Amino acid sequence: MLDQFKKSKKYFKKTPNLENYEKTYREFSWKNVSESELTWFDNGKVNAAYNAIDRHLDSPRKNKIALYYEGPNGEQEKYTFEEMSQKSNKFGNFLKALGVKRGDRVFIFLPRNPYLYIAFLGILKIGAIAGTLFSAFQEQALYDRLENSGAKVLITDKEFAVRVEKIRHKLPNLKHLVLIDDESSLKEINDSSAELHIDRMNPEDYAFMLYTSGTTGKPKGVVHRHLAILSEHITAKYVLDFHEEDTYWCTADPGWVTGIAYEILGSWSNGVASVVYGGRFDASKWYEILEKYKVSVWYTAPTAVRMLMAQGIDLVRKYNLSSLRHILSVGEPLNPEAIRWGLQAFGLPFHDTWWQTETGAIVIANYPCLDIKIGSMGKPFPGITAGIVDDQGKELPPGQEGNIALKPGWPSMMKTIWRRPEKYKSYFLNDWYISGDRGLKDKDGYFWFIGRADDVIKTSGERVGPFEVESALVEHPSVVEAGVIGKPDSLRGEIIKAFVVLTKKYQDKVQDKNYSDQLKQELSLQVRKHLAGHAYPREIEFMDKLPKTRSGKIMRRILKAKEMGLPIGDTSTLEEF
Ligand code: WT7
Repeated sequence: MLDQFKKSKKYFKKTPNLENYEKTYREFSWKNVSESELTWFDNGKVNAAYNAIDRHLDSPRKNKIALYYEGPNGEQEKYTFEEMSQKSNKFGNFLKALGVKRGDRVFIFLPRNPYLYIAFLGILKIGAIAGTLFSAFQEQALYDRLENSGAKVLITDKEFAVRVEKIRHKLPNLKHLVLIDDESSLKEINDSSAELHIDRMNPEDYAFMLYTSGTTGKPKGVVHRHLAILSEHITAKYVLDFHEEDTYWCTADPGWVTGIAYEILGSWSNGVASVVYGGRFDASKWYEILEKYKVSVWYTAPTAVRMLMAQGIDLVRKYNLSSLRHILSVGEPLNPEAIRWGLQAFGLPFHDTWWQTETGAIVIANYPCLDIKIGSMGKPFPGITAGIVDDQGKELPPGQEGNIALKPGWPSMMKTIWRRPEKYKSYFLNDWYISGDRGLKDKDGYFWFIGRADDVIKTSGERVGPFEVESALVEHPSVVEAGVIGKPDSLRGEIIKAFVVLTKKYQDKVQDKNYSDQLKQELSLQVRKHLAGHAYPREIEFMDKLPKTRSGKIMRRILKAKEMGLPIGDTSTLEEF
């Protein structure tokens, strides 16, 4: 099927920006692209937001649409690059008047609407550090992030502010809550000057931060520098393969790294017109957006593709999607059926890309100029050395399973973990950055994903730490302890499953099936309401006890093996079970 596709001319309507992978990989130098692709101020200074937007004002792109916005209720707005420049300048001046200084953390907690993008750019322009918060976050998730970052300002709206008000008294550093739908704030922002001196930053200076989950502990603040835009720009150019006439739609939310790297920085630095859809997933609506805006490049996620598949191919046929030229996916394994379905539905294969919050940009990908091996994530981006290493950091030969690792030093490699330098150091072993994923490299240099090396859960492509969910569960009076795992799911990749030990009193009560069902619902709701609307257990099982090590650590590995009917492995270190 893929062979048939290769012969079809459709894909090669455009010559890919990356025409010869091997040659470019061989000759690539970050220094060269940094000179040819970025716009620098004098004395080696740079600003990522300037590179995304303002540098285009000297070219015909000035009057080109940068952002087509369609809201959840069909509202439509559009902004040129010049308008994005002016609006973000105003926002920068507004923040300065509030007292925001270089290096201050300014967080954004908004649904996907133009202000999110404008605010993000404005923050970077004045040298402050932007943080984004996913719209499904609830009190605990918000508190952990705002507290750890010491954010000084939070940009939000009236509806979302309700969740913040409850925790505000515990956040002494949070000086201002700006409500973008409040008349007086809006007036102040609009009345601010559109003339802004964009801050000249060192390439190493921090630009934005994103919290992400690991196996243990609270989420960690991954910090990226201004120079990250170099990786984001050049990967967008070569992997997303933007051409001047393209209209691009990235379905990610800027609460996650994809939405920052490829909906704000790397995409706009290539001058592409971007569609932002602020509504929820709906198959018909999605096709309508693709059709209406004549989207040509589309970056989405496997769960979304599977949700579209579930609605059937006939639905696709009702729309004219002939503008599509290049489609891609990220966030979780892209199953071969999804690629095959993409070919049937759109006449194009989804191109898988692999990267992480910490890598800041795509590091392994399938490129328009290279053959896709269905099921593989593709090859390392030029300038990236990827390998498979064992647990001592020794590189393994092709065909052997190990840790997916990268040689440190590419521009968008995280700069630090906010206030946790030891955590940052723990990523590196024997001069390799260890990703936390397991995989292998085949003899042709293609990388294949096998699974996570740790207990991190990927549900609908979103990264969830089991510890956070466990902590939210034990807040409930009925729960003594909880162990949380990702359980394979054909639609969502994984769903969150919780194994819960109840207090004696509740153990008796759940003998009644109705009560037991009710309590399960209540526990799910507990997580939804306190942690996040998307990161709750869809399955709960009550247990008498949980498998633990002698030191008392819950063995999620055993819970998972048991759930999947796999051999449990060595249990000699177990205390209970
Ligand atoms: C983790 C990173 C980077 C954008 C969104 C995710 C998993 C990512 C793939 C892929 C299989 C993938 C990995 C990775 N992942 N892309 N193409 N195939 N798994 O960022 O939330 O930091 O998650 O997502 O497990 O480590 P993130």
